[in-house]
Amino acid sequence: KVDICFSPELLHLYDLRGKVAVIVDILRASSTIVTALGEGVTHVFPVATLDECTAYGQEHGCLTAAERDGLPAAGFDLGNSPFGFLDARRPVQGRALSISTTNGTMALRRSLAADAVVVGSFLNLAAVADFVRAQGRDVLVVCAGWKGQFCLEDTVFGGALAARLTPDFDVRSSDATLAALHLWQQGEPNLSNYLLQSAHVRRLNSLEASKDFEFCLQIDAYAQVLPRWQHDRLINNG
Ligand code: MLT
Repeated sequence: KVDICFSPELLHLYDLRGKVAVIVDILRASSTIVTALGEGVTHVFPVATLDECTAYGQEHGCLTAAERDGLPAAGFDLGNSPFGFLDARRPVQGRALSISTTNGTMALRRSLAADAVVVGSFLNLAAVADFVRAQGRDVLVVCAGWKGQFCLEDTVFGGALAARLTPDFDVRSSDATLAALHLWQQGEPNLSNYLLQSAHVRRLNSLEASKDFEFCLQIDAYAQVLPRWQHDRLINNG
């Protein structure tokens, strides 16, 4: 069965035990983490607070990335743009990363009771679908949302994943998944046009980060990357 939790604030309504949790923050935390691992970052520490991000950076000698309210937080190597990991002037290969973002890293930390925790984005949709299929367990897609509220792009990703898992998984016994599937079917023919209407895209546009938006919608650009939680970090299990 595939179910979708629209916001981390609703996680208390779900039992994560025995399930695969797919953490989604299309704009931009999950897309950025996938890009980082795809570009050779060895592992990622997703942390809740800025202080922890700094502390991990010092303790592990890793790169630090932090964002609050869509803007890079002061005092860190990087913000939350995937392009930060594609800049030849700052090679990231072989480095570890600690990252803290407004909603995405929080959603992940709240989902650790699941049997397996992976990070999903359009960039690695195939890797997530393959992993979930191989696990054969119930799935909960955990949308990071925005400050507790529903986000269109995260939900549309849930629909895309449900579509890939059809017919092997039951995607019809949850209204949340059904709704996400319908949104995906509506948006798929022109995803970028469809998601242009979403609140976070307007937020990113106003922060001049609209190129990040186009980047994050590339389906399967990192089809071999599967960030998976192991002990205290995300590693590429792809
Ligand atoms: C978040 O975690 O809230 C974000 O990924 C926001 C962003 O950087 O666009």
